[in-house]
Amino acid sequence: MADKTGIVKIFDTTLRDGEQSPGASMQREEKLQVARQLARLNVDIIEAGFPVASPDDFEAVSQIATEVGNLPDPPVICALARATDKDILEAARSLKNARSPRIHTFIATSPVHMAKKLRMGPEEVIQTIRRSVALARKHVPDVEFSAEDAFRSDRAFLARAVQVAIESGAQTINIPDTVGYAVPDAVKDLFRFLIETVPGAKSVVFSCHCHDDLGLSVANSLAALEAGARQVECTINGIGERAGNAAMEEIVMALRVRKSWFNLETKIRSEEFFRTSRLVSSVTGMNVQPNKAIVGENAFAHESGIHQDGLLKDKDTYEILVPEDVGVSGGRLVLGKHSGRHALHDRLKAMGYSLDGEEFERVFSRFKKLADQKKELYEEDLEVLLTEEESQTRD
Ligand code: KIV
Ligand code: ZN
Repeated sequence: MADKTGIVKIFDTTLRDGEQSPGASMQREEKLQVARQLARLNVDIIEAGFPVASPDDFEAVSQIATEVGNLPDPPVICALARATDKDILEAARSLKNARSPRIHTFIATSPVHMAKKLRMGPEEVIQTIRRSVALARKHVPDVEFSAEDAFRSDRAFLARAVQVAIESGAQTINIPDTVGYAVPDAVKDLFRFLIETVPGAKSVVFSCHCHDDLGLSVANSLAALEAGARQVECTINGIGERAGNAAMEEIVMALRVRKSWFNLETKIRSEEFFRTSRLVSSVTGMNVQPNKAIVGENAFAHESGIHQDGLLKDKDTYEILVPEDVGVSGGRLVLGKHSGRHALHDRLKAMGYSLDGEEFERVFSRFKKLADQKKELYEEDLEVLLTEEESQTRD
């Protein structure tokens, strides 16, 4: 049944599309660790892998299905399959121990993919969708269909493909922006068109799956949700094929911070974001860029004097997110050349020094000189300044 509430399902594909990032492959035990952490984060669906890709992928999906798929109130465990009998049967076999298994089957619907990659005519693609979705439904009660490269597909043909998938038993219809080609208004337009015109569309959940080739994956995902999608496919830290997938932490926090705009919610326990981000970074070896939204090292670090002064007076001046809400303990005021008197005074106070008047002004002017030479000043640097001040006043 279609979800008519304002609840958005979070479909995590870190272990499948995320693992397709160049150089990001994970060992089986590492995948299990990530899957356990995704369950703690409370994602709705974990796409655990592509079982037919290799025996190791099969084993990883199967172990995740057995262990994480049987936790109390477990997430749905999903396996990817092309629209072939072999892929679908392998996916079903890998999921046999999960309490809530899902097969995610896909085939391309764009002219270039059909002609050059699949070497199939449009009618053959339609018949393949009918067969594969029906086969998947014989093995599991929960089937998702994706029309690969949907945004470069002919609309009328895409609508027909979606209709056939629904008639054959798919309850989730994913409209992927496979090559990161879409822009937000076009995303809204396509989702509205499909949801409003395809027979049966109102009885299924529409899903978005956006890639970041133009840096628009999160904006495009939010646009799809505004147009009626109720499942979003995403990865931790936005890792994924080429420029990556939409970053889960950014989508979830945008929905939360702008709740009055979207009126949508997720079940995510956002305090687990930072830990999950660091785990994924360490098992994939992919560093998180310092200025990455939500989980980057600098996401809550304020350097400018004006900002630091404002924050010390009232956090609302420059902070729209509470660091603790995403699992970061306390924001960071970085002391540097842009820091003002207020920030320095506050830090010295926290270190146990109470300096005022001329004494403070002398330390402040030394602090500014040192900050011109060093990028960031640490407490040890301040201790040195204070020792210098002490010895000068003694002399
Ligand atoms: O980007 C894509 O089209 C995919 C599909 C398999 C959903 O990852
Ligand atoms: Zn993808």
